[in-house]
Amino acid sequence: MKRIQIGLLGCGTVGTGVAKLLIENKDLLTARVGADLNLKWVADIDIETDRGIQFPEGVLTTDAQKLLTDPDVDMVIEMIGGDGIAKDFMLQAINNGKHIVTANKALLAAHGNELFAAAARNGVDLAFEASVGGCMPIIKSVRESLVANHIKSMTGILNGTCNYILSKIEDEGISFQEALAEAQRQGYAETDPTLDVEGTDTAHKIAILAALAYGMEINLKDVYTEGISRITPLDIEFAGQFGYRIKLLAISKFQNQRVEARVHPTMMPFKNLLTSINGTVNAITVSGDAVDDILLYGRGAGMMPTASAVVSDIVDIARNILSGTVRRIPPLSYQRESIRKIPVLPMDDLVTHYYFRFAALDHPGVLSTISGILGKYNISLQSVHQKGRKTNGSVPLVMLTHRAQEVDVKRALAEISDLNVVSDEPVLIRIEDDGLD
Ligand code: HSE
Repeated sequence: MKRIQIGLLGCGTVGTGVAKLLIENKDLLTARVGADLNLKWVADIDIETDRGIQFPEGVLTTDAQKLLTDPDVDMVIEMIGGDGIAKDFMLQAINNGKHIVTANKALLAAHGNELFAAAARNGVDLAFEASVGGCMPIIKSVRESLVANHIKSMTGILNGTCNYILSKIEDEGISFQEALAEAQRQGYAETDPTLDVEGTDTAHKIAILAALAYGMEINLKDVYTEGISRITPLDIEFAGQFGYRIKLLAISKFQNQRVEARVHPTMMPFKNLLTSINGTVNAITVSGDAVDDILLYGRGAGMMPTASAVVSDIVDIARNILSGTVRRIPPLSYQRESIRKIPVLPMDDLVTHYYFRFAALDHPGVLSTISGILGKYNISLQSVHQKGRKTNGSVPLVMLTHRAQEVDVKRALAEISDLNVVSDEPVLIRIEDDGLD
């Protein structure tokens, strides 16, 4: 039986999961692939810690070069993470003619254009299913199952930590800080949670998906990114009163030859299935011109769900090797010569609906002053609500708008926040609701 030789670089949580599947599900994989997927090397700086796996004799090494330079190794599984040494190792493996499987969204979002070009030059595959949405087969779905469609939009909950925190604030009425501390106690959030809670991890993922969906170069720097650290139980409660739930969404649309790519807390109507996705799971809706909408749902992180996606890539590459083909499917779905630079819509040009909350003095004329400023900037109000008790002499004044342009909203809120009848920074949350006019 043909043997496919695999080198695993990095044996942390996901790397360990991959090794487990390759070793413990070997018979199943052999039956499905028709070849022996052999874990020849596992390289990590720590080969002493017991990972609960019986590695075959001689597999573990602290020397990454053993697998990067071994002519027998067919593919390298990069499970180091981050955009430091992982990039050098990946380029070295590519230049040595090895296929690559990675889950490294940070690296692909920042340096994907260079890495995909290197893979093309060297005639190797670069597979990355586990980089977005853990076990959800979103990459394969967009690249292969939806290949006949113009993708119109993608809307996703792509960070389990943020979704857990928002669900916790909503369910228990606790603050962001308390919910974050609980996420850390549960082991969902990192000790430094910045990448997750400030939306960066989600931005990495939507930058990759937009490239795949629209045939564009990866463009992380133009993805607008806002996290959830300013979300309060009060805004979640108001959202509920209007029939909305707040989710950290990655939103990408293709319209008029421009791409929208943005990450921010968003109010969405309860009837949208994404609002029922609670806790650490991920979900994404993809709209295509032929299929209308599809929805994927599943664990976006964790050892075995993520390892499952990595092994699916290993199997794809193994099957290519067995049939004597490489790069049968372009990694980014489009032929390289068809990949373009597509401009990302500047946030100032965005037109959408908004929720505002002002902490305003409960005095005659305050409402008309605020709505006068909004009117001056062409912001038309859908509804105005003054609810709740006074705190520090202020009352929450909540407004929902008709469609407005972001640049006008920014200017109006800057002017309103300077009023001495308004304390605190105004709160702005964008709304995605097709039912609004
Ligand atoms: N930290 C991410 C999350 C998973 O919380 O969903 C890896 O991207």
